[in-house]
Amino acid sequence: MEPRTTPQVGGMGHSMKRKEDPRLIRGKGNFVDDIQLPGMLYLDIVRSPFAHAKIKSINAERALKVPGVLAVITGETLAKYNLHWMPTLMSDTQMVLPTEKVMYQAQEVAGVIATDRYAAADGVEAVEVDYDPLPVVVDPFKALEPGAPVLRTDKKDKKDNRIFHWEVGDKAGTDRAFAAADVVVKQDLYIPRIHVSSIETCGCIADFDRVEGKLTVYMTTQAPHAIRTVFALVAGHVGLSEEKIRIVSPDIGGGFGGKVPVYPGYVIAVAASVVLGKPVKWIEDRMENLQADSFARDYHIKAELAAKKDGTMTALRIKTLADHGYADAAANPSKFPAGLFSICTGSYDFKNAFAEVDGVYTNKPPGGIAYRCSFRVTEAVHTIERMTDVLAQELKTDPAELRLKNFIPAEKFPYKSALGWSYDSGNYSAALKKAMEMIGYDALRKEQAERRKRGELMGIGISSFTEIVGAGPSKHFDILGIKMFDSCEIRIHPTGKAIARFGTKSQGQGHETTYAQIVAEELGIPAAHVEVEEGDTDTAPYGLGTYASRSTPVAGAAGAMAARKIRDKAKKIAAHLLEVSEDDLVWEPGKFSVKGAPQRAKTIQEIAFAAYTNHPQGMEAGLEAVSYYDPPNLTFPFGSYICAVDIDRGTGEVKIRRFVAVDDCGNIINPMIVDGQIHGGLTMGLAPALFEEISYDENGNIQGGSFMDYLLPTAMETPSWETDKTVTPSPHHPLGAKGVGESATVGAPPAIVNAVVDALSHLGVRHIDIPITPEKVWRILKDKGVAE
Ligand code: CDP
Repeated sequence: MEPRTTPQVGGMGHSMKRKEDPRLIRGKGNFVDDIQLPGMLYLDIVRSPFAHAKIKSINAERALKVPGVLAVITGETLAKYNLHWMPTLMSDTQMVLPTEKVMYQAQEVAGVIATDRYAAADGVEAVEVDYDPLPVVVDPFKALEPGAPVLRTDKKDKKDNRIFHWEVGDKAGTDRAFAAADVVVKQDLYIPRIHVSSIETCGCIADFDRVEGKLTVYMTTQAPHAIRTVFALVAGHVGLSEEKIRIVSPDIGGGFGGKVPVYPGYVIAVAASVVLGKPVKWIEDRMENLQADSFARDYHIKAELAAKKDGTMTALRIKTLADHGYADAAANPSKFPAGLFSICTGSYDFKNAFAEVDGVYTNKPPGGIAYRCSFRVTEAVHTIERMTDVLAQELKTDPAELRLKNFIPAEKFPYKSALGWSYDSGNYSAALKKAMEMIGYDALRKEQAERRKRGELMGIGISSFTEIVGAGPSKHFDILGIKMFDSCEIRIHPTGKAIARFGTKSQGQGHETTYAQIVAEELGIPAAHVEVEEGDTDTAPYGLGTYASRSTPVAGAAGAMAARKIRDKAKKIAAHLLEVSEDDLVWEPGKFSVKGAPQRAKTIQEIAFAAYTNHPQGMEAGLEAVSYYDPPNLTFPFGSYICAVDIDRGTGEVKIRRFVAVDDCGNIINPMIVDGQIHGGLTMGLAPALFEEISYDENGNIQGGSFMDYLLPTAMETPSWETDKTVTPSPHHPLGAKGVGESATVGAPPAIVNAVVDALSHLGVRHIDIPITPEKVWRILKDKGVAE
């Protein structure tokens, strides 16, 4: 799309520099831990060394003698106010602090409040907890076996460890299609538990003002409004009423879904501040963040794909076990216990599909968050993109050819998928062909054949993913009953400058810039003159927040709609000023002019001034509008990625030689920001593909609980990403835009795995579970007798 505005105005399509960067790159950002309040106290948390144990006693005597320690808060303290349990966003329950037993290693056991952070840490060391270990359930398959210890003994009627069973699709039709298929391929896949590793860990300052009876919480939350409502609902009985609660999300150093849930630390800090009447700060350290915050993934998948001899895919059948730890603390929309996993038919024209997911309790930290992913889409895309390659291998077909044969054709959009989604728009073969051209696919295949003859291991992997973002239409999407609309309020000041407030909250995605560009696009007011505010529940309109790439599809659309309401009023004022009928006016970005007499015009700035100084009689003064946008559908961004790898036969190391990413997120607001989103997302896709995993030993001890063994890719491990795009606008979004933030995280891992498996396919390798560590590859090479 060619920009409609000048670079000075900076509407859509301009790579405007980020308005937030002068603040952030000079270290002048305002993060929770930067905030210092007079008389502030500090909270640190005692955590369990056991994965499952009875608490026989907690002795705080020694801790209370540590200089500076003022209080030790336990489950018993909170139980007096009935605040020791809280709801999760999936309507499960989770302990704030235990009164009877702990359910995972690193679980919060007590809070120590002190005058400084070091005293609080010393206090934590001095709290004595007597535990009586209980049998630990780590394996989700064993958790479902008859006779497995029932973990949630707090739930009176619970007789097993199953959380939910969910299924979608036509089971009988899919079974029939499998029975009639020429070819059926089956594969088990495990998508391991991983953790969000934002630069900033989680934290808050709870500040209860006893005089005003008002609680202000500065908090690393991606969803401030929803959190305010949850606080009001959970703590209403102790006098916290919603108008007396203010949640402020200041700058946030990365969220990626990990800052959506309510963690016990927040609640303990609030309780401490209410009781002590002082501000209380809690900032997690890195190991607490890795060990106790909500995890992502942990899906054990059995997938089957049916096809005709000629490669036409006919049916998909998937059975999944979802390990949720001790509580289902996912942040999915409530009707979707397995998130949007049903996007698993991907970019392909399946007539039949059936998927089922069982959620299971184990002795691990709770969660199931959408880590830079729209609720289980990463798991879905990984499955279908791997299965497509497994089928290609079975049929001895080129994986690009197989994809091109089975893609939903461009002319079939809007497309109703076998699992019920209505894809808005797409042109999958255009994206794949562009990626193939960029990487020189045919030449690479020839090179691969030659290298193979020389005993070298080179592979090429493709991922042609379909995403589903922008939750969501209120008919189907809510969190704890709150519908998933989002909002924008714009006020135009008399001199033609504006403030725009949104219900979302940026965590580094650049909303201050792109939202200003949306207002600039619609009203012609330069983006530099549009101040964007998010994250303060006292001022911003109510919205569900930023996660799952919903900002552009939902709040961005609200921005456009609010601006259009303002333009409608501006037109009336212009007609009054120019003494013509509204029908005689034409709009071009920034001004209304009279049809056939373009010199007779009023700029938006002149109109804004008139709205306060010379508005028509009978019209309300001012120029402002609010929009609560309920999207008619989700948006379905897509892309094709191609990765070329070389494998070292001596060490098993995978070297990414090239990685080409062609993305399509519809019309683009800021191409530079989108490129940045994709670069970051690709690196976050590389991470689980090759490095990251959190696992547990049989006693529930965490493996990978620090950056010593939870490996993040650094610049050294990250290849030089090559990005390009196609543009297929969303037909229902007011700006034709789709979300983009998570596309690359979702699309990259299968491209990398497919490349590695392709490099080893002639040795009979069909699948490798992520992370593909050098050790895993080296063992395969040794097994196959080709290790050097
Ligand atoms: O919800 P979140 O902000 O994480 O995701 P998003 O809506 O995908 O947007 C990520 C960033 O990319 C935001 O700054 C968007 O405004 C920008 N973007 C864009 O410029 N054009 C698009 N079509 C989509 C997103």
